[in-house]
Amino acid sequence: MSTKISIEEMAAFCKRKGFVYPSAEIYGGLSGFFDFGHLGVELKNNLKQEWWKFHVKQREDIVGIDGSIITNPKVWQASGHAENFEDLMLTCTKCKEKIRADTFIEDNLKVAADGMKADEINKTVKENNLKCPKCKSDFEEVQEFNLMFTTNVGPKQDSSSKAYLRPETAQLMFTNFKLVTDNARLKLPFGLAQIGKAFRNEISPRDFLFRCREFEQMEIEYFIDPEQINNCPYIDEVKDHEILIYSAEMQEKKQKPKLMKIKDALKNKIIKTPWHAYWLALEYKWFLSLGASKDKFRIRQHLNKEKSHYALDTWDMEYEFPFGWKELQGMANRADFDLKQHITHSKTDLSIFDEESKQKIVPYVVAEPSLGVDRSFLVFLFDAYNDDKKRGNIVLKLHPGLAPIKLGIFPLVNKLKDETKKLYSELKQDFETIFDSSGSIGRRYARADEIGIPLCITFDFDSLKDKSVTIRSRDSTKQIRVKIENLKENITGLLNNKKLDF
Ligand code: GLY
Repeated sequence: MSTKISIEEMAAFCKRKGFVYPSAEIYGGLSGFFDFGHLGVELKNNLKQEWWKFHVKQREDIVGIDGSIITNPKVWQASGHAENFEDLMLTCTKCKEKIRADTFIEDNLKVAADGMKADEINKTVKENNLKCPKCKSDFEEVQEFNLMFTTNVGPKQDSSSKAYLRPETAQLMFTNFKLVTDNARLKLPFGLAQIGKAFRNEISPRDFLFRCREFEQMEIEYFIDPEQINNCPYIDEVKDHEILIYSAEMQEKKQKPKLMKIKDALKNKIIKTPWHAYWLALEYKWFLSLGASKDKFRIRQHLNKEKSHYALDTWDMEYEFPFGWKELQGMANRADFDLKQHITHSKTDLSIFDEESKQKIVPYVVAEPSLGVDRSFLVFLFDAYNDDKKRGNIVLKLHPGLAPIKLGIFPLVNKLKDETKKLYSELKQDFETIFDSSGSIGRRYARADEIGIPLCITFDFDSLKDKSVTIRSRDSTKQIRVKIENLKENITGLLNNKKLDF
């Protein structure tokens, strides 16, 4: 069980230990932007590699791309983002403070406000006498605010050179759809995957990495033949998985979420397609495979008013953060909305010839698992964080695959420094390893625990004679003695088998 801490405490821990800093803090930082430190960058890279391995490398049906951040602005006209990618904003009549309207209402009135229309927001603000939190004055009528950052491409600084920083990685998978599909010789059903930065000019960034203006996404567009919407060949892999489900109907009827097997959710038509069910279950499985705690996840269906302009049906995987159940991963059924839009706007045929049905089809995106790297980073940290009162220090029980540093190596006393350093140089070729010789051995173990190092190796006086060292487990604090000649093999076994409880 992890120890509960607030998001502010997590931000302080991340800064203290070298995971995450406010961006360019020496100049006061910049709201909604963060820099990753020497441990943060390793954790983030490991997380992305684990995602890529599970979703791309180990599958036959998904290939990756890496699209540009700034692209032809016509992409965002076609996708609908230029017109529709907006949040509603409240502006104070006096001090001109600007606040995101739905979250402000949610915080103040404890009601769901996502998807509320402008009229309803104005009415709610008036009826509940909501005032500017800064100067307590009234608000103006609510306004729409487009979340895309704009820039200019080239030296001409006018509207003809206006471009956008992408607000989602998804569109590059649609614009490159035909090229990738043909060159990779993909056959339906298949997916395209991408990891990359996206940017949203959030009105009110908050909760540390949860809502930033610059963030990273891990997204898949999974394409099927629309005729095969009820035929998911992978459903048996997940049909017995249990997951906490909160459908739109349950929310409307003010019922509680229900723990259900995937097959029952399908039988009762709570989740409409086996594809959507498969992807929701698989993504949950990915989190659990990396040590996330299973009771903190649920899937919640969007109410009609919440759905994005491109979505037929959307489920969010939610996680119970210290500030409530929040979206971790959106999973929309985008159908053929995007490909059709790009066919119309670019006047390019993006249909593909399907060998099976012997006809040209515009495939459906039956599910778009769209996951935030930064939000996942937080999930794994929250679930790993243990304030161990017995040890008197924090133990960050990160999965060995995610841990930024895999090994610590310590000489028992300074006299043994040279021999230990020799071993350190060898281990460093294969594992992320740190050498530490300062302070008592207990203090060094505590420092290693706090940054999640799974295994610590101590070189002692006996090591000179028996050519062995001790390996200490972060999770149990137990130690085993291992011959140096077998050390790498033993470490690999322990890390790969996740056996930290020896
Ligand atoms: N592509 C979906 C999203 O960015 O939310």
